[in-house]
Amino acid sequence: MKIGIIGSGGVGGTLGTRWAEGGHSVTFSSRRPDSPEMTELVAKAGPNAKAAPVTEAVANSEVVLLATPWPTTLSAVSAAGSMEGKVLIDATNPLLPDFSALEFGTTTSGGEQVAARAPGASVVKAFNTVGFNVMADPAFGERRASLFYCGDDPKAKQVVHQLAEELGFDPHDAGSLTQARTLEPFAFLWISLALVQGYGREMAFDLIRR
Ligand SMILES: NC(=O)c1ccc[n+]([C@@H]2O[C@H](COP(=O)([O-])OP(=O)(O)OC[C@H]3O[C@@H](n4cnc5c(N)ncnc54)[C@H](OP(=O)(O)O)[C@@H]3O)[C@@H](O)[C@H]2O)c1
Repeated sequence: MKIGIIGSGGVGGTLGTRWAEGGHSVTFSSRRPDSPEMTELVAKAGPNAKAAPVTEAVANSEVVLLATPWPTTLSAVSAAGSMEGKVLIDATNPLLPDFSALEFGTTTSGGEQVAARAPGASVVKAFNTVGFNVMADPAFGERRASLFYCGDDPKAKQVVHQLAEELGFDPHDAGSLTQARTLEPFAFLWISLALVQGYGREMAFDLIRR
């Protein structure tokens, strides 16, 4: 697939590199597509990867990954050009700048705010509940990290399910996009355990069933 990345840091850089290594055609973008960091990232990601300005990365892609810090996210979406007909994967978390809490509670979510600024796009909230180090390698011995996603378009969710499975995740459909109201606080639980409670970043959630 043709995948455009808006925000090529820890999350965008890791997912984009893995998808490029897996054979997808990946265009990384940031506000500085010509920066030395972007040149290094493209070289590391290999021949299926390139860098471009945001609007070009979006226009040339079927799937767009949004991986920007929350304070710049909504303006980044508005400046990205039309995303009509595209699958827009929202990996962001609406964290306050000091990371102490989320900007939204239970009546809306970052995912819904993103969707409101991307008319015609099929928004799927995904990859926000695991650290970028887990995206690099979702295997924990015999077990795989669970990856929860939500959205309103079944076909778009199938695309995301496949992209997550290719990376080695155990993906689970959590329901409609309003479930971003639970997936974003769920990500905050990961952040609290990993970075405040001392579990460290090498952890992920695994769904057990019987
Ligand atoms: N870190 C994690 O483990 C993790 C896990 C799950 C979800 N998340 C969420 O994912 C998002 C990204 O996190 P991250 O850790 O990958 O951040 P990061 O390492 O700081 O990378 C952010 C990237 O976004 C780019 N950027 C910033 N503003 C932009 C704009 N307006 N337009 C285009 N690109 C822009 C930055 O490059 P320039 O400054 O050069 O533009 C940079 O490449 C956040 O919302 C975070 O909460 C993070």
